Amino acid sequence: MKGIILAGGSGTRLYPITIAVSKQLLPVYDKPMIYYPLSVLMLAGIKDILFITTPNDQEAFKKLLGDGTHLGCNFEYSVQEEPNGLAEAFIIGEKFIGNEKVALALGDNIFHGNGLVNLLRSKTDVSGASIFAYPVKDPQRYGVVEFDKDKKVKSIEEKPSSPKSKYAVPGLYFYDNNVVEYAKKVTPSDRGEKEISSINQMYLQNDALEVGVMTRGMSWFDTGTVESLDDATEFIRVLQNRQSTMIGCIEEVAYLSKFIDKGSLAKLYKQYGKSKYGEYLKEMGETILQ
Ligand code: G1P
Repeated sequence: MKGIILAGGSGTRLYPITIAVSKQLLPVYDKPMIYYPLSVLMLAGIKDILFITTPNDQEAFKKLLGDGTHLGCNFEYSVQEEPNGLAEAFIIGEKFIGNEKVALALGDNIFHGNGLVNLLRSKTDVSGASIFAYPVKDPQRYGVVEFDKDKKVKSIEEKPSSPKSKYAVPGLYFYDNNVVEYAKKVTPSDRGEKEISSINQMYLQNDALEVGVMTRGMSWFDTGTVESLDDATEFIRVLQNRQSTMIGCIEEVAYLSKFIDKGSLAKLYKQYGKSKYGEYLKEMGETILQ
């Protein structure tokens, strides 16, 4: 399975912070936001990842993440010229996807929780589409999924003003190869974007949409507003400091996913200078080499 991380968009809800800096490079506590969705795709076992950024930001992402070989991965880069919506990712990524299945992770979504790795790995052989639903207080900000009384999906709507349920669709989607053709059929919504919800509606119409409800052991943050960015930062800070383990440490995930061996992991701290992140990696390298 291939992976795409969409890190485009103009981030206007975070202005002035994102006037000169990409939203997905902003810090969420001690590391750039993009580390979190990247670690999620890597935890799913996905090594081939395409980063879609704005034209202006591409160089910064390349500087941060390179070609991925140090993590045992293959990273590629494409641009989204205008913020035309999430569905465009599969058109931009058509060549990269080829005949494979593909997972899309939004660059500003963070997941953490018990059972996440098994959940992710169970999705990589998807037929049709597999997405999630997560109960929130403000569903009107998201794609919203409605279930009937037998828990079958009844509808999917993008940012409805009167949501039919409290279940938001988080920014992590697993699709079979049909997604490329479906994406081409999507017409822009009232806000002028090709919506991912339109793709999900097409799968639903073809009876090929699976929606898994994320239960209370799972945490999900969308960091698109100042409040939610601040919440995510605090969440990561509190949990990391309490448990002394990192969330979203891509080198650790590369090692745990067996993309790299201990010798390679032990060298990777060097690029992080005297930071705590670097110290964490250094200590881990020393421990596993003992
Ligand atoms: C996008 C999607 C929406 C989804 C959300 C998750 O919203 O359009 O369906 O629920 O991501 O973060 P946007 O970030 O464009 O507001």
